[in-house]
Formats: sequence, structure tokens, C-alpha cells
Amino acid sequence: MFRKLSLIAVLLATPVVAQEKAFSLKAPEILVKTGFLKHLLPRFSLKTGVRITLSDDSTEAVFGSTGTPVFASGDTVWHLSKTDGPYTDAFEKWLLSDIGKRTIEAFARDGKALFSADMTKAVVAEETVLTGDAALGEKVSLTQCGRCHVVNDSNRMNAIGSTPSFALMRTFPDWQERFETFFMLRPHPAFTQITDITEPFAAHLPSPIAPIEVTWDEVEAITAYVGSITPADLGAPLQSQ
Ligand code: HEC
Repeated sequence: MFRKLSLIAVLLATPVVAQEKAFSLKAPEILVKTGFLKHLLPRFSLKTGVRITLSDDSTEAVFGSTGTPVFASGDTVWHLSKTDGPYTDAFEKWLLSDIGKRTIEAFARDGKALFSADMTKAVVAEETVLTGDAALGEKVSLTQCGRCHVVNDSNRMNAIGSTPSFALMRTFPDWQERFETFFMLRPHPAFTQITDITEPFAAHLPSPIAPIEVTWDEVEAITAYVGSITPADLGAPLQSQ
């Protein structure tokens, strides 16, 4: 069985036609390591002819903590967030279909299913994902992030035009992860301190600008606030975001 599947995986990995039906998917290492995706993805591809390549840079489709709950392992609920498109849409539909669910639950070790497709628990879990205080988040965003990012209409004139607006970043499928880790993503580490989490600035590398100092509660509040804003309409010219 496994040998046959890996042969299929090899065949699927060989591009035959230039205009192939395909999209890329980002999945955390911890999920890839289970071997589950090698079980799941080729079966979807066989059914639909759509090939999925794993890529850490993908913004087309992401397995993570936001989006539509699709399967669970233990207490961890995995969500799919994706951009709209015929192939990513087909993938989500398939994951939620009876065949998709049976495929998810067929991945077993020693006769025990490792993933569950019963999402009744997950819906509850998703509602509690954003626990931060959105009103506080708006205030902190405007004071701490608003000198560079357009947070909302109220600081449109005071931000830096070349820095992505919050509404624009809200369109990324993995926006939540990015906001929860922004302090590790450039350019922020050079000027950002998260109370009790980040190391103090090195003595020879003081912050070049008035530093941002926020607590983890405030990071969660910002994330909750961003969750409440309407994603930018990417059909409109970026200038007006
Ligand atoms: C001094 C200017 C400045 C401040 C202050 C600032 N940012 Fe940014 N931020 C940037 C720039 C510039 C980028 C774009 C980086 C790029 O495109 O690579 C960015 C990108 C981001 C991204 C996307 C990062 C990625 O790699 O996907 C997030 C999320 C973000 N900022 C959140 C915040 C939050 C939250 C705050 C406030 C707590 C904040 N930023 C404060 C300049 C700033």
C-alpha cells in the first residue's frame, strides 16, 4: 500500500503539462512530520487532478490556527485558510465532504485513527481563538503601530504610505500568525520589546527609533482588533488602502 502511494506521489510530482492544475500549501513542520499530508494530498490529487506542492512561502493555502476548521488531532484543531480560486476552493470542499472526511480518518497507526474530521468541537474552539480585547487592541495599534502602518481611517494621514496597512495585511491567509509574531518579523525586532518575552536590545545596538514596548496581552489585543477589521478589497488600487 505505502509503496504504491509513494509511486503515485512521484508521478504527481512530475509536471507533465505546462498549464497544470496546481497550487501551493504551507503546513507547519509538526504536521508534515506526522506523514498525514503524504496520505491526504495524493488522494485529493487523484480525485481531482489538482496537484498540491508544499511550500513555506505559500500564501495560497495554509494549514494553521485560522480559517475553516478541517481536522483535529488530539486537542489541536487544524484550520485551512486560503485565497479564493478554483483549486483551493476544491480542496476545502473536498476536505469537508464525506469522502474527504473518510480519507482524513483513514490515516491510522496501529488501527487507531490519528486525525478526526468531526468538527463539532472545533467550531467552539475557533470562537475562542481570539481572546484579546479588541477595543484595547485598537488603542495600542494606533499609538504603537500607527506611526508607520495605516491602522484605520483615523490615522490614514499620519502613517507611512509604503508600509502595508492593517486592512491589507488582514487579507493574508496567515494574518493571525503574522500579527502574533510581528516582533520577530523585520523590521520590528530592531525597535520592539515584548515585556518578559524579548531579550533587551544589545548595548551596542540600541533601538534606532523610539522603541515599541507592548505586553503579550497587548499583542493578543492587537490581534483581536485586526480580526475585527474588514480585509482590504484587493480589487481596488493599493494606493487607497
Ligand atoms: C517604524 C515603523 C513600524 C512600526 C512602528 C511598526 N511596523 Fe509593522 N511593519 C513595518 C514595515 C516597513 C513592514 C513591512 C515589512 C516588509 O514588507 O518586509 C511591516 C510589516 C508588518 C507586518 C507583516 C510582517 C510580515 O513579514 O508578514 C505585521 C504583522 C506588522 N508589521 C505588525 C505591526 C504591529 C502589530 C505593530 C505595532 C505593535 C507594528 N507593526 C509597528 C514598519 C513598522
